[in-house]
Order: sequence, then C-alpha cells, then structure tokens
Amino acid sequence: MAKEKIGIMGGTFNPIHNGHVAMAEAAQRAAGLDRVLMLPDRVPPHKTGIAPAEDRWRMVCAAVWNHAGLEPCRAELDREGTTYSFDTLTNLHSLYPRAELYFIIGTDTLMQLKSWHRWEEVLRLCTFLVCPRTTAYRPEEINAERKRLTALGGRFQPVAMPVINVSSTELRDAIAAGKPTPLLHPAVREYCLLRGFYGAEPGCAEAEGWLAELFRTLNRHRFVHSLCVAGTARMLARIHGVSPEKAETAALLHDCAKCMPLREMQRVAAERRLTEDEFILGSSAMLHAPVGACLCREVYGVEDPEILHAIACHTTGQAGMSKLDLIVWLADKIEPTREARPEIVKGRMMAPLSLEKATLTVMEASAAYVMSRGRGMHPATMDAIAWLKQEIAG
Ligand SMILES: [Fe+2]
Ligand SMILES: [Fe+2]
Repeated sequence: MAKEKIGIMGGTFNPIHNGHVAMAEAAQRAAGLDRVLMLPDRVPPHKTGIAPAEDRWRMVCAAVWNHAGLEPCRAELDREGTTYSFDTLTNLHSLYPRAELYFIIGTDTLMQLKSWHRWEEVLRLCTFLVCPRTTAYRPEEINAERKRLTALGGRFQPVAMPVINVSSTELRDAIAAGKPTPLLHPAVREYCLLRGFYGAEPGCAEAEGWLAELFRTLNRHRFVHSLCVAGTARMLARIHGVSPEKAETAALLHDCAKCMPLREMQRVAAERRLTEDEFILGSSAMLHAPVGACLCREVYGVEDPEILHAIACHTTGQAGMSKLDLIVWLADKIEPTREARPEIVKGRMMAPLSLEKATLTVMEASAAYVMSRGRGMHPATMDAIAWLKQEIAG
C-alpha cells in the first residue's frame, strides 16, 4: 500500500491569510499530498502583537474549512514549552508512523535551515517543499544552499506558484479599513474586527466570549457563515443608518441555535412557550430562529429587544420588519460565501441601494424555490412579501 503523504505547514498565522492557503494548496498539488496539516505555533502569551492562541486557531479553522485536504492541527498549540521543528516532526512521525512527511517552507526559510535546532537530523525526517518567496538572496545563492543541503542528505522539491508576499502593513491596513480584501477570508477579516486585532478599533467586550461559545457549539461551516453574515450586516448598517454594533451582534448570533438537534430545540421552545405554531415547531430550519433569540438572551446575555426580534424573525420574515430585521434577514442570504445564484447576485447589488427591494427579490425567489419543491411557505413570509411590495410602491 502506498504511504500516505502528509504536508506540514507551520506558522504563527497572525492572522492566517490567503497567501498561506495558496501556498498550502500549491504544495498539495505539486507533491500529490493526501492532506496538509496547518499547525499554528505556540507563542509565549506575553509576546506583543500576536493574537492569543485560541483566536489564531479559530481563524485557521475558518480560513480552511472548505479546502479539501487542508486540516488544522493542534499538535504545536497543545505542547508545553519551546517547540522546535525537530520535535514537531518527531511527534508527527510517531502519530503517523506509516506516512511520508513533507515540510512546506518558503525560499527564505531554506536559507535559514542551518540555524534550526538539530537541523542535520531534521533533513532526514522530511522532504522540503520549497515555495518561492521574495528574499534578499539571489537565485544563485539559494540554489547553492539547496545543493549543499542536498549533499548532506536533504530532499527538496520546488513548488511552482506565483510569488505571494503579503506584508503585515498591508494586512493591518486592510483590516483597519474594514472593507473586503483579497488578502483575507471574509470570516477571518470579520473575526479580527470583532476582536479589535491588528489595528482594528477595539471590538465589543463580549465578542471574545461569544466567539468562543459559537465556535464550541456550531459546526465549522455555520461558524464561518455567522462571521460572514456579521460582516455583511455591519456594512449594510453603515450604509442604511442603522447601528453597526447592533446589526453585527444580531447577525453574528442569528444562527446560535442552528446546530442543536430538533428535539432539543423543541424542548427549549416548549419550556419557554416560544410558539404554538406547528409549522415552526416541526422544522429546525424555522425553529432555530425563535430558539436562537432565546439562547441569545439566556446564554449570550443580549437583552436588546430589537436584536432579539431580528434574530427571531430571520427565517420567515414578517410584515413591518424594521431596518435591522431586514439587514439581518438579507445579510443571512447574501453573505459572500453563499452560492452566487442569480437572485443572490441581484440582492448583493441592490442591498446598498434599497433594503426593501433587495429583500423582496431574494424572498420571492426563495419562496418560488420552496414551493417548486412542493413545500408550503410560512404565512409570515407571504405577509412580508405583500408588505414589501406595498412599501416599495408607496
Ligand atoms: Fe438561520
Ligand atoms: Fe444563517
């Protein structure tokens, strides 16, 4: 049986950006790796300018959740004391005794290999996949070093890919500007903004606890979606004169109950007498909204009735929705990781211009889709559609 090929990509990931992901994927293709372990480094807690380990971990998980074969790995984070690449490789060899290990590095790291702890042994523990980086060294110098290390038993494979250099200044500027950037996954950018990292304005004090609880209770997809809805809602709130903080909070927490089993949601709904509506009680796709509003108050400590209302009506919609309700409803449907179906693309273009028109477009299309599949539409959604038409006409 062929040995499994495992790539290793270590780094501080402070924060993880698209250059890291591109490098891991290029190495994966170049060497036919079965998977690439993304290992955030352990950094002493007092080191300034570096986000806490758990935050960097969650951002790595968010950035790679839908990249087949890229796996976040806590092997470094959970070790005590100083860790060297030698220790990591030895540890991974014992965890995966039948695998071949490939260490993914940039050309700049190749030039520093001889400063690594027990570097001569490291050369025998893995093959190095070398990605191009802009360095102060000339190509001849890099080649000569590679030859010297090869003569000492090192194995090196070049990875063909465009040179990607993301400067930390560029990253900080992109985060501080709060605008979409090709440098970061939108969920990672939003995470940084919520936590006030890397030059962003200080985030709200509760965000740390909320993010930890969401990460614990939601699956990765739902966690990423929640962050993306929060980013979209904040952007829309700024445009439409709604409190960005309220919109961001409601959007971040809107699906906080989504990953609960239906039975559990029904239990919460029955105990709190949330609704008598059989339609809603029978469907987790609907019930997570009122149950979410309830958890939001009881677990996340949010008391603001406008935020709770926006969460409670984010599935069905209703007549007379507030601007905040519309923003959360819409951001949920048009956030950047949603598939670009025609009505979503239209909704994205219309949302900055008119919340009502954008909501109507997306709501009518999803109503038509639901009915085409033989399922009934909740009366509140029909009311919302009729109300939106009136608002737009009037
Ligand atoms: Fe939802
Ligand atoms: Fe959602």
